[in-house]
Amino acid sequence: MTALIAPPLSLYVHFPWCVRKCPYCDFNSYTLSGELPAAAYVERLARDLEAQAPEVAGRRVVSVFFGGGTPSLFSPACVGRVLAAARRHLALDSDAEVTLEANPGAIERGAFREYRDAGVTRVSLGAQSFAPEALAALGRIHSPAETRRAAEELHAAGLTNFNLDLMYALPGQTRAAALSDLKNALESPMEKIFEIYIRTTPERLWEAITDSEIRSNYQFGCLVTSEWTPGSRVEMSHPGAPGLLAEGEILEADPPRRLVQTMTALWSDDAKRAGTSRVTWEIEPVGDSCRLTVTHDQLPEGASPEVYGGWPMILSGLKTWLETGELLTTPGSLMYNG
Ligand SMILES: C[S@@+](CC[C@H](N)C(=O)[O-])C[C@H]1O[C@@H](n2cnc3c(N)ncnc32)[C@H](O)[C@@H]1O
Ligand code: SF4
Repeated sequence: MTALIAPPLSLYVHFPWCVRKCPYCDFNSYTLSGELPAAAYVERLARDLEAQAPEVAGRRVVSVFFGGGTPSLFSPACVGRVLAAARRHLALDSDAEVTLEANPGAIERGAFREYRDAGVTRVSLGAQSFAPEALAALGRIHSPAETRRAAEELHAAGLTNFNLDLMYALPGQTRAAALSDLKNALESPMEKIFEIYIRTTPERLWEAITDSEIRSNYQFGCLVTSEWTPGSRVEMSHPGAPGLLAEGEILEADPPRRLVQTMTALWSDDAKRAGTSRVTWEIEPVGDSCRLTVTHDQLPEGASPEVYGGWPMILSGLKTWLETGELLTTPGSLMYNG
Protein backbone atom coordinates (compact mmCIF):
# COMPACT_ATOMS: atom_id res chain seq x y z
CA MET A 1 0.00 0.00 0.00
CA THR A 2 1.40 3.45 -0.87
CA ALA A 3 1.51 6.05 1.89
CA LEU A 4 -0.56 9.20 1.36
CA ILE A 5 1.61 12.32 1.30
CA ALA A 6 -0.19 15.60 1.90
CA PRO A 7 0.50 18.10 -0.91
CA PRO A 8 2.79 21.02 -0.06
CA LEU A 9 1.37 24.34 1.08
CA SER A 10 1.86 28.01 0.21
CA LEU A 11 1.61 30.67 2.89
CA TYR A 12 -0.28 33.90 2.21
CA VAL A 13 0.22 36.81 4.64
CA HIS A 14 -2.09 39.81 4.32
CA PHE A 15 -1.11 43.44 4.93
CA PRO A 16 -4.31 45.48 4.66
CA TRP A 17 -3.12 49.12 4.53
CA CYS A 18 -2.50 51.40 1.53
CA VAL A 19 -1.42 55.02 1.17
CA ARG A 20 -4.81 55.64 -0.41
CA LYS A 21 -7.64 53.24 -1.25
CA CYS A 22 -8.05 53.00 -5.05
CA PRO A 23 -11.72 53.38 -6.03
CA TYR A 24 -11.80 50.20 -8.14
CA CYS A 25 -10.10 47.91 -5.62
CA ASP A 26 -12.06 44.92 -4.27
CA PHE A 27 -9.34 43.76 -1.92
CA ASN A 28 -9.53 43.85 1.86
CA SER A 29 -7.50 47.07 2.03
CA TYR A 30 -7.85 50.42 3.78
CA THR A 31 -6.42 53.92 3.56
CA LEU A 32 -3.83 54.28 6.25
CA SER A 33 -4.86 56.95 8.70
CA GLY A 34 -2.23 57.91 11.22
CA GLU A 35 0.84 55.87 11.84
CA LEU A 36 1.32 52.34 10.48
CA PRO A 37 1.01 49.95 13.46
CA ALA A 38 3.95 48.00 12.07
CA ALA A 39 5.47 46.47 15.20
CA ALA A 40 2.08 45.53 16.73
CA TYR A 41 0.83 43.98 13.47
CA VAL A 42 3.98 41.95 12.91
CA GLU A 43 3.78 40.72 16.50
CA ARG A 44 0.12 39.62 15.95
CA LEU A 45 1.03 37.87 12.71
CA ALA A 46 3.79 35.94 14.49
CA ARG A 47 1.35 34.91 17.24
CA ASP A 48 -1.24 33.83 14.65
CA LEU A 49 1.37 31.73 12.88
CA GLU A 50 2.37 30.08 16.13
CA ALA A 51 -1.26 29.37 17.09
CA GLN A 52 -2.22 27.90 13.70
CA ALA A 53 1.01 26.03 12.92
CA PRO A 54 -0.06 22.77 14.67
CA GLU A 55 -2.90 22.42 12.13
CA VAL A 56 -0.35 22.00 9.33
CA ALA A 57 2.38 20.24 11.31
CA GLY A 58 4.64 18.19 9.02
CA ARG A 59 3.35 19.83 5.82
CA ARG A 60 6.01 21.36 3.56
CA VAL A 61 5.57 25.04 2.74
CA VAL A 62 7.07 25.83 -0.67
CA SER A 63 6.27 29.52 -1.12
CA VAL A 64 5.25 32.65 0.76
CA PHE A 65 3.24 35.56 -0.63
CA PHE A 66 3.10 38.88 1.20
CA GLY A 67 -0.01 40.49 -0.30
CA GLY A 68 -2.30 43.38 0.37
CA GLY A 69 -3.06 46.09 0.60
CA THR A 70 0.46 47.33 0.24
CA PRO A 71 2.97 45.17 2.12
CA SER A 72 5.80 47.40 0.88
CA LEU A 73 4.59 49.99 3.42
CA PHE A 74 6.22 47.70 5.99
CA SER A 75 9.98 48.02 6.41
CA PRO A 76 12.33 45.24 5.25
CA ALA A 77 13.03 44.52 8.95
CA CYS A 78 9.31 43.91 9.58
CA VAL A 79 9.05 41.62 6.56
CA GLY A 80 12.16 39.79 7.80
CA ARG A 81 10.53 39.29 11.23
CA VAL A 82 7.39 37.73 9.71
CA LEU A 83 9.55 35.46 7.58
CA ALA A 84 11.60 34.42 10.61
CA ALA A 85 8.35 33.55 12.43
CA ALA A 86 7.23 31.48 9.43
CA ARG A 87 10.57 29.63 9.46
CA ARG A 88 10.28 29.07 13.22
CA HIS A 89 6.77 27.64 13.18
CA LEU A 90 6.40 26.02 9.75
CA ALA A 91 8.37 23.53 7.64
CA LEU A 92 9.34 26.25 5.15
CA ASP A 93 11.65 25.09 2.33
CA SER A 94 15.05 26.80 2.57
CA ASP A 95 14.73 27.84 -1.10
CA ALA A 96 11.03 28.80 -0.91
CA GLU A 97 9.92 31.59 -3.26
CA VAL A 98 9.04 34.65 -1.17
CA THR A 99 7.00 37.30 -3.02
CA LEU A 100 6.27 40.84 -1.86
CA GLU A 101 3.55 42.98 -3.45
CA ALA A 102 4.72 46.54 -3.93
CA ASN A 103 3.15 49.76 -5.12
CA PRO A 104 5.61 51.82 -7.23
CA GLY A 105 4.44 54.91 -5.32
CA ALA A 106 5.07 53.41 -1.88
CA ILE A 107 8.67 52.27 -2.06
CA GLU A 108 11.63 54.10 -0.64
CA ARG A 109 14.65 54.44 -2.86
CA GLY A 110 17.10 51.58 -2.25
CA ALA A 111 14.63 49.52 -0.22
CA PHE A 112 14.50 46.60 -2.66
CA ARG A 113 18.05 45.56 -1.80
CA GLU A 114 17.08 45.45 1.87
CA TYR A 115 13.92 43.43 1.12
CA ARG A 116 16.10 40.99 -0.79
CA ASP A 117 18.50 40.74 2.16
CA ALA A 118 15.47 40.15 4.42
CA GLY A 119 14.58 37.07 2.35
CA VAL A 120 12.29 38.36 -0.41
CA THR A 121 13.07 36.56 -3.70
CA ARG A 122 10.34 37.97 -5.97
CA VAL A 123 8.33 41.20 -6.24
CA SER A 124 4.89 41.82 -7.73
CA LEU A 125 4.74 45.45 -8.80
CA GLY A 126 1.37 47.18 -9.30
CA ALA A 127 1.96 49.06 -12.57
CA GLN A 128 -1.67 48.96 -13.86
CA SER A 129 -0.95 51.19 -16.87
CA PHE A 130 1.75 53.34 -18.43
CA ALA A 131 -0.73 55.99 -19.58
CA PRO A 132 -0.74 59.00 -17.18
CA GLU A 133 -4.45 59.67 -17.79
CA ALA A 134 -5.36 56.03 -17.01
CA LEU A 135 -3.35 56.15 -13.79
CA ALA A 136 -5.09 59.39 -12.81
CA ALA A 137 -8.54 57.91 -13.57
CA LEU A 138 -7.68 54.88 -11.45
CA GLY A 139 -6.66 57.12 -8.56
CA ARG A 140 -3.13 55.69 -8.49
CA ILE A 141 -0.46 57.42 -6.43
CA HIS A 142 2.40 56.95 -8.93
CA SER A 143 3.44 58.03 -12.42
CA PRO A 144 4.64 55.79 -15.28
CA ALA A 145 8.16 57.12 -14.59
CA GLU A 146 7.99 55.86 -11.00
CA THR A 147 6.97 52.40 -12.23
CA ARG A 148 9.92 52.38 -14.63
CA ARG A 149 12.25 53.53 -11.87
CA ALA A 150 10.95 50.80 -9.53
CA ALA A 151 11.56 48.19 -12.26
CA GLU A 152 15.09 49.49 -12.76
CA GLU A 153 15.75 49.45 -9.01
CA LEU A 154 14.49 45.88 -8.77
CA HIS A 155 16.90 44.93 -11.50
CA ALA A 156 19.77 46.78 -9.81
CA ALA A 157 18.96 45.08 -6.49
CA GLY A 158 19.29 41.65 -8.11
CA LEU A 159 15.53 41.01 -7.76
CA THR A 160 15.21 40.17 -11.44
CA ASN A 161 12.32 37.80 -10.76
CA PHE A 162 9.42 40.24 -10.70
CA ASN A 163 6.11 40.87 -12.44
CA LEU A 164 4.23 43.98 -13.38
CA ASP A 165 0.44 43.93 -12.78
CA LEU A 166 -1.44 45.53 -15.65
CA MET A 167 -5.16 46.22 -15.74
CA TYR A 168 -6.93 46.09 -19.07
CA ALA A 169 -10.44 46.81 -20.36
CA LEU A 170 -10.36 50.02 -18.35
CA PRO A 171 -13.35 52.30 -19.08
CA GLY A 172 -12.74 54.00 -22.43
CA GLN A 173 -9.46 52.13 -23.00
CA THR A 174 -8.81 51.36 -26.65
CA ARG A 175 -7.17 48.19 -27.91
CA ALA A 176 -4.17 50.28 -29.01
CA ALA A 177 -3.82 51.78 -25.51
CA ALA A 178 -3.94 48.33 -23.87
CA LEU A 179 -1.32 47.04 -26.34
CA SER A 180 0.84 50.07 -25.67
CA ASP A 181 0.75 49.22 -21.91
CA LEU A 182 1.87 45.70 -22.73
CA LYS A 183 4.66 46.98 -24.95
CA ASN A 184 5.84 49.35 -22.21
CA ALA A 185 5.84 46.50 -19.68
CA LEU A 186 7.82 44.25 -22.01
CA GLU A 187 10.33 47.01 -22.59
CA SER A 188 11.28 47.31 -18.92
CA PRO A 189 14.74 45.93 -18.21
CA MET A 190 14.09 42.48 -16.85
CA GLU A 191 14.19 38.83 -17.60
CA LYS A 192 11.24 37.93 -19.76
CA ILE A 193 9.42 35.08 -18.06
CA PHE A 194 6.44 33.42 -19.70
CA GLU A 195 4.43 30.76 -17.94
CA ILE A 196 1.62 28.56 -19.18
CA TYR A 197 -0.25 25.50 -17.90
CA ILE A 198 -0.84 22.76 -20.46
CA ARG A 199 -2.89 19.61 -19.89
CA THR A 200 -0.32 17.02 -20.93
CA THR A 201 2.57 14.93 -19.60
CA PRO A 202 6.18 16.19 -19.30
CA GLU A 203 7.26 13.59 -21.89
CA ARG A 204 4.70 14.73 -24.47
CA LEU A 205 5.55 18.38 -23.82
CA TRP A 206 9.26 17.69 -24.17
CA GLU A 207 8.57 15.93 -27.47
CA ALA A 208 6.53 18.89 -28.75
CA ILE A 209 9.34 21.30 -27.85
CA THR A 210 12.12 19.27 -29.42
CA ASP A 211 10.37 17.64 -32.40
CA SER A 212 11.29 19.85 -35.36
CA GLU A 213 8.18 19.01 -37.30
CA ILE A 214 5.73 19.68 -34.45
CA ARG A 215 7.60 22.80 -33.38
CA SER A 216 7.71 24.25 -36.86
CA ASN A 217 3.92 24.26 -36.79
CA TYR A 218 3.44 26.50 -33.80
CA GLN A 219 6.65 28.51 -33.82
CA PHE A 220 6.69 31.12 -36.57
CA GLY A 221 5.83 28.41 -39.11
CA CYS A 222 9.53 27.67 -39.53
CA LEU A 223 11.83 24.69 -39.30
CA VAL A 224 13.99 23.99 -36.28
CA THR A 225 16.91 21.67 -36.70
CA SER A 226 19.03 20.29 -33.90
CA GLU A 227 20.15 17.18 -32.11
CA TRP A 228 18.88 18.68 -28.83
CA THR A 229 22.07 17.69 -27.00
CA PRO A 230 24.56 20.13 -25.41
CA GLY A 231 26.82 21.71 -28.00
CA SER A 232 24.39 21.10 -30.89
CA ARG A 233 23.38 23.94 -33.15
CA VAL A 234 19.75 25.10 -33.42
CA GLU A 235 18.55 26.73 -36.62
CA MET A 236 15.26 28.33 -37.46
CA SER A 237 14.36 28.98 -41.06
CA HIS A 238 11.29 29.15 -43.25
CA PRO A 239 10.86 28.03 -46.84
CA GLY A 240 9.36 31.45 -47.64
CA ALA A 241 12.18 33.49 -46.09
CA PRO A 242 15.71 33.98 -47.40
CA GLY A 243 18.47 32.81 -45.03
CA LEU A 244 18.14 31.78 -41.40
CA LEU A 245 15.59 33.44 -39.07
CA ALA A 246 17.59 32.60 -35.96
CA GLU A 247 20.39 30.40 -34.76
CA GLY A 248 21.72 29.20 -31.44
CA GLU A 249 23.28 26.41 -29.45
CA ILE A 250 21.95 23.90 -26.91
CA LEU A 251 23.61 24.56 -23.54
CA GLU A 252 21.78 22.03 -21.37
CA ALA A 253 19.29 19.26 -22.12
CA ASP A 254 17.73 17.32 -19.25
CA PRO A 255 14.67 15.57 -20.70
CA PRO A 256 11.81 15.84 -19.91
CA ARG A 257 12.39 18.77 -17.52
CA ARG A 258 14.86 21.41 -18.68
CA LEU A 259 16.32 22.75 -21.89
CA VAL A 260 18.66 25.73 -22.11
CA GLN A 261 19.70 27.25 -25.43
CA THR A 262 21.22 30.41 -26.80
CA MET A 263 19.40 32.38 -29.46
CA THR A 264 20.57 34.93 -31.98
CA ALA A 265 17.70 36.51 -33.91
CA LEU A 266 18.50 37.24 -37.54
CA TRP A 267 15.13 38.12 -39.05
CA SER A 268 15.50 41.91 -38.94
CA ASP A 269 18.11 44.56 -38.18
CA ASP A 270 16.22 45.51 -35.01
CA ALA A 271 16.14 41.93 -33.77
CA LYS A 272 19.81 41.39 -34.69
CA ARG A 273 20.80 44.26 -32.41
CA ALA A 274 19.72 42.13 -29.39
CA GLY A 275 22.77 39.93 -30.05
CA THR A 276 22.80 36.53 -28.41
CA SER A 277 20.42 35.86 -25.53
CA ARG A 278 19.50 32.74 -23.57
CA VAL A 279 16.22 30.83 -23.48
CA THR A 280 15.45 28.35 -20.68
CA TRP A 281 12.47 26.00 -20.95
CA GLU A 282 11.39 24.39 -17.67
CA ILE A 283 8.67 21.76 -17.37
CA GLU A 284 7.10 20.94 -14.03
CA PRO A 285 4.20 18.48 -13.58
CA VAL A 286 1.26 19.98 -11.64
CA GLY A 287 -1.69 17.58 -11.20
CA ASP A 288 -2.81 16.41 -14.67
CA SER A 289 -1.02 19.38 -16.30
CA CYS A 290 2.45 20.75 -16.76
CA ARG A 291 3.66 24.21 -15.93
CA LEU A 292 5.94 25.40 -18.71
CA THR A 293 8.13 28.37 -17.84
CA VAL A 294 10.16 30.01 -20.57
CA THR A 295 12.76 32.50 -19.37
CA HIS A 296 14.37 34.71 -21.97
CA ASP A 297 17.37 36.43 -20.39
CA GLN A 298 20.81 37.92 -21.01
CA LEU A 299 19.05 40.37 -23.30
CA PRO A 300 20.87 43.68 -23.65
CA GLU A 301 19.09 46.71 -22.20
CA GLY A 302 16.78 48.22 -24.80
CA ALA A 303 16.64 44.98 -26.84
CA SER A 304 13.84 45.15 -29.38
CA PRO A 305 10.63 43.51 -28.06
CA GLU A 306 10.59 41.74 -31.45
CA VAL A 307 12.90 39.07 -30.02
CA TYR A 308 10.70 38.12 -27.04
CA GLY A 309 7.27 39.62 -27.80
CA GLY A 310 6.30 36.53 -29.82
CA TRP A 311 6.57 34.09 -26.89
CA PRO A 312 2.94 34.43 -25.64
CA MET A 313 1.77 33.52 -29.15
CA ILE A 314 4.20 30.60 -29.43
CA LEU A 315 3.19 29.18 -26.04
CA SER A 316 -0.52 29.51 -26.69
CA GLY A 317 0.05 27.79 -30.05
CA LEU A 318 1.85 24.98 -28.26
CA LYS A 319 -1.00 24.66 -25.71
CA THR A 320 -3.67 24.57 -28.42
CA TRP A 321 -1.73 21.97 -30.39
CA LEU A 322 -1.21 19.69 -27.37
CA GLU A 323 -4.71 20.03 -25.95
CA THR A 324 -6.79 20.01 -29.13
CA GLY A 325 -4.49 18.93 -31.96
CA GLU A 326 -5.32 22.19 -33.77
CA LEU A 327 -2.61 24.30 -35.36
CA LEU A 328 -2.62 28.06 -34.96
CA THR A 329 -1.56 30.31 -37.78
CA THR A 330 1.18 32.45 -36.29
CA PRO A 331 2.12 35.91 -37.57
CA GLY A 332 5.41 34.42 -38.80
CA SER A 333 3.79 31.92 -41.10
CA LEU A 334 1.40 34.60 -42.38
CA MET A 335 4.36 36.88 -43.04
CA TYR A 336 6.20 34.31 -45.10
CA ASN A 337 3.27 32.51 -46.71
CA GLY A 338 1.44 35.68 -47.66
C1 LIG B 1 -3.81 43.83 -4.01
S1 LIG B 1 -3.02 44.74 -5.24
C2 LIG B 1 -1.42 44.77 -4.53
C3 LIG B 1 -0.43 45.70 -5.14
C4 LIG B 1 -0.41 47.12 -4.63
N1 LIG B 1 -1.35 47.35 -3.59
C5 LIG B 1 -0.74 48.03 -5.79
O1 LIG B 1 -1.91 48.22 -6.05
O2 LIG B 1 0.21 48.48 -6.42
C6 LIG B 1 -2.81 43.54 -6.50
C7 LIG B 1 -3.32 43.89 -7.85
O3 LIG B 1 -4.70 43.66 -7.93
C8 LIG B 1 -5.22 44.35 -9.06
N2 LIG B 1 -6.59 44.81 -8.73
C9 LIG B 1 -7.00 45.51 -7.67
N3 LIG B 1 -8.32 45.71 -7.70
C10 LIG B 1 -8.78 45.12 -8.82
C11 LIG B 1 -10.07 44.99 -9.41
N4 LIG B 1 -11.16 45.48 -8.86
N5 LIG B 1 -10.15 44.34 -10.58
C12 LIG B 1 -9.05 43.82 -11.16
N6 LIG B 1 -7.81 43.91 -10.64
C13 LIG B 1 -7.67 44.55 -9.48
C14 LIG B 1 -4.24 45.45 -9.37
O4 LIG B 1 -3.66 45.19 -10.65
C15 LIG B 1 -3.19 45.32 -8.28
O5 LIG B 1 -1.90 45.58 -8.74
S1 SF4 C 1 -2.96 50.26 -3.68
FE1 SF4 C 1 -3.41 48.16 -4.39
S2 SF4 C 1 -4.42 47.11 -2.67
FE2 SF4 C 1 -4.37 49.31 -2.22
S3 SF4 C 1 -6.34 50.01 -2.86
FE3 SF4 C 1 -4.96 50.31 -4.60
S4 SF4 C 1 -5.08 48.38 -5.81
FE4 SF4 C 1 -6.03 48.01 -3.82
